[in-house]
Formats: sequence, C-alpha cells, structure tokens
Amino acid sequence: MSEISGTRNCGPAGVAFVRLAVPDLTSTVEFLEYHVGLALEGHDESHAFLRVGIEHHSVELVADPSLTEFRYDGVGFHVADTDDLADLQQRVTNAGLEVLPLTDSTKGLCQEGFAVRDPNGTLIELFTEFLEYAETPWPDLRPERLVHPFIVTDKYDETLEFYLGVLGFQASDYVEDFTAFLRCEDRYHHSLAIRRSTKFSLEHLCFIMGSMDGVMRRRARAQYKNVKILGDVVNHSASTSIAFYLFDEKHGPRYELCDGHRVFTPDEHETHRPRRLKRDPRNIDVWRAEADDRTWAH
Ligand SMILES: [Fe+2]
Repeated sequence: MSEISGTRNCGPAGVAFVRLAVPDLTSTVEFLEYHVGLALEGHDESHAFLRVGIEHHSVELVADPSLTEFRYDGVGFHVADTDDLADLQQRVTNAGLEVLPLTDSTKGLCQEGFAVRDPNGTLIELFTEFLEYAETPWPDLRPERLVHPFIVTDKYDETLEFYLGVLGFQASDYVEDFTAFLRCEDRYHHSLAIRRSTKFSLEHLCFIMGSMDGVMRRRARAQYKNVKILGDVVNHSASTSIAFYLFDEKHGPRYELCDGHRVFTPDEHETHRPRRLKRDPRNIDVWRAEADDRTWAH
C-alpha cells in the first residue's frame, strides 16, 4: 500500500475514462477526432474506445439511437495497487454500499477491480493496471490526458461525503459551499469537480492540451466548423489553467480544452489547506473585469 496510507486513507490514483452513450456513434467519433483530438481504437457499430495517450482509452462510447442527446453512463478511476484497492473496497463495504462487479467492457482491460454507485447513481469503476499501448497515437493536436469530469448535482452534500469520506479524494479548493474541486493521488488539482445544482448532470470533461498553441488551434477549429463555444477563453483561479469549452449535446457534455492545469507537489499534496473562494466571477476567471462581470458565464 502507498506510504501515505499510514496517515490517511488513499484515494484512487486518477481518472481513467468516462463512458458516454450517444445517439449517433459515427458522428460523435468524428466530432471527438476532429475537435477534441481523440484517436479511435477498438470499435464496432455499437461501441467505440478513444484514447489520447498510452492508456487504453479516455472515452468509451456506447451507441443508443433512442437518445437525442448524450447520456453519462459511468467513470473509471485507476487505483495504485491491490492493497489500495482492497482498502477502498473495505471502506465502500463499511459505508453500507453495495460492491458491484466491473462492467464486462472494463473487466478485460485491467487486472482487478470493483464498481460502486455514487449518490447520483453514477457507476464508478475502480481498478488496477489498466491496459496501455506501447506508444501514444500519431501526433495530431492531441490532448495529453483526460483530467477531470465536472458534475452538477442536487445531492451535493451526499456526493461530497461519498468522494471525500468513502473514496478518499482530497479537497483542493471550494467555491463557498457551492463547488468542490477534489483530487486523486496523481496530485492534479482536481480529478473531479462537483457543483451544487437542482439536478444531476455531467457538465463537462476536461482534457489537458499541453500547450496554449494547442488550445488556440482547437478553438480555431471549433469556430471554423461553427461548433458552439460555450465558455470562451478563461483563466481559472483554482487550477491555474487557461481553457475554452466547446459544446454539442449530441456528442457529450461541454469539452474543456486547457493548458496549465495545476499539479500539487508531493509535499503540497499532504499539507494543502483547501481555500474557500468567494463566489465571484474573478475567482472563476481571474481575467474578469469586475465582481459583476459575468460575460464569461454560459
Ligand atoms: Fe473544468
């Protein structure tokens, strides 16, 4: 088990993938290839895996022609080793939650794992040794990695308790009692963000592009193809990243493409005190002009 687990319960190592059901698989694959930079791997007419780096996939798509817009079907998290996995499973059991098997599609892509439903009903899969490729896909303005899903929920307090208290995520920052940024053991500022709302949804997925040049070139592609930019270039105070968001509800939530996502040092990871930021546009985007400047908002 990781060293630090003597002093606190370890969380998952980091986010691996999200699973989305979409109405038109072929057009969503095209969208994700052209606009986000994902590379298509194993697929058939009902199912597709797309990756950005050496990890097996960052997005799993399931075809569901009965839909008119995407549906969020689940999320996978890496776990560092079998001891951490056993510890997580014990905590899930101790919390009175049902330990579920991995989905068939995940089962063959990792060594060991289990699943659990979070308070919103989302299937969370936790596993060790996710399969990987020897090389990254051929370069093509690709992101470096998936870094976080951002959810909004009408069960904010229960959701926070589940991820912090049961799964061992750590809080990096809060925006008042409204938004929480939670990190995993890979020390990215947030591998999951949760915002209080009147309903549940997957609000966006964030990919790290690795350069501002990459972010701006992707923004240009979105403009060229008239894809909606729902949240233009912003400078986030929490994660110190610069990002824009593109959106087409048929193909998923908003896709946030960013550069510069904060990674804590090992020392910060153990000692950081989460800030509680004021709910002020300047705390979402430090470039906003005034406290009432909501021109960034969507
Ligand atoms: Fe984000």
